[in-house]
Amino acid sequence: MTSVVTRPTDSYNRLPQDAKELLKNRVQTMASASSAPATQQRGVGQEQPKTPKEQSKTEPMVKLRQVTKTYGNGSQALVNVSLQIKRGDFVFLTGPSGSGKSTLLKLLYGQERPTSGEVVVNDHSLSQLQGNRLAMLRRSIGVVFQDYKLIPRRTVAENVAFVLWAQGFTRKEIYRRLWPTLKMVGLQGKARCFPDELSGGEQQRVSIARAVVSTPPLLLADEPTGNLDVDNSWQVIKILKKLNSIGITVVVTTHDEHLVRMSNHPVVQLRNGYLHHVRR
Ligand SMILES: Nc1ncnc2c1ncn2[C@@H]1O[C@H](COP(=O)(O)OP(=O)(O)O)[C@@H](O)[C@H]1O
Ligand SMILES: [Mg+2]
Repeated sequence: MTSVVTRPTDSYNRLPQDAKELLKNRVQTMASASSAPATQQRGVGQEQPKTPKEQSKTEPMVKLRQVTKTYGNGSQALVNVSLQIKRGDFVFLTGPSGSGKSTLLKLLYGQERPTSGEVVVNDHSLSQLQGNRLAMLRRSIGVVFQDYKLIPRRTVAENVAFVLWAQGFTRKEIYRRLWPTLKMVGLQGKARCFPDELSGGEQQRVSIARAVVSTPPLLLADEPTGNLDVDNSWQVIKILKKLNSIGITVVVTTHDEHLVRMSNHPVVQLRNGYLHHVRR
């Protein structure tokens, strides 16, 4: 990591195009991480009494109000979806392929806009956010994908450190965060490996490390176990549970009914774009 410098703009401009693309949507900050309370398993969508002072703490992390998403080709991905996810929750979002799971997550991190209805994340209404303010909100959201999306010609440590590097974290701070994060996902011994030297499960753990190295208050994982065998899937879920136990709100999509049955977390299901609560 000798290339780490603290001039984010120059550094960013010198990155290869693939790295820039990956960073654009995934640069993260510490913003509001400290407001996430220790985890309690709570139901999805349940209201709690609140005083004005406590309001931002008790406000749900995610609120969808009557959200409909119709793509340009007429495909109806979500229909009148209302959902609340409280801070500190761990929620499974299930449903068959094509039921709208990825679309729902894309609305949460602002990659897509709803056709109607309102999406609120971490107290911000996404429809009112543009440009820099949307980019700032995205920095408080960690995202993990089924296909890992690692930068191929960069080591494990570099893949994880880039997120902090592009934000201008000092070299000392990058090191302070990098090693505990790699250790948390069990990859401290693979820091100098390249992605193609790792198993699928290991690559997914790198992508989780990258998503959380800046301790975002919200982690979205879209089919994180989709390419993994049973053992590796469990390992990934265990890491997500561990992150949830330190206060990160976690939303995981999966069509793996077995994984869902083996856990006691709240479950919401999408079917043809309609949302149903399966387990609160
Ligand atoms: N960019 C897009 N343009 C048009 N239709 C899309 C787009 N993305 C998804 N869809 C459609 O929206 C529906 C939901 O897709 P998606 O959210 O990817 O479901 P899932 O993640 O549950 O498989 C599907 O019918 C899909 O074909
Ligand atoms: Mg999907």
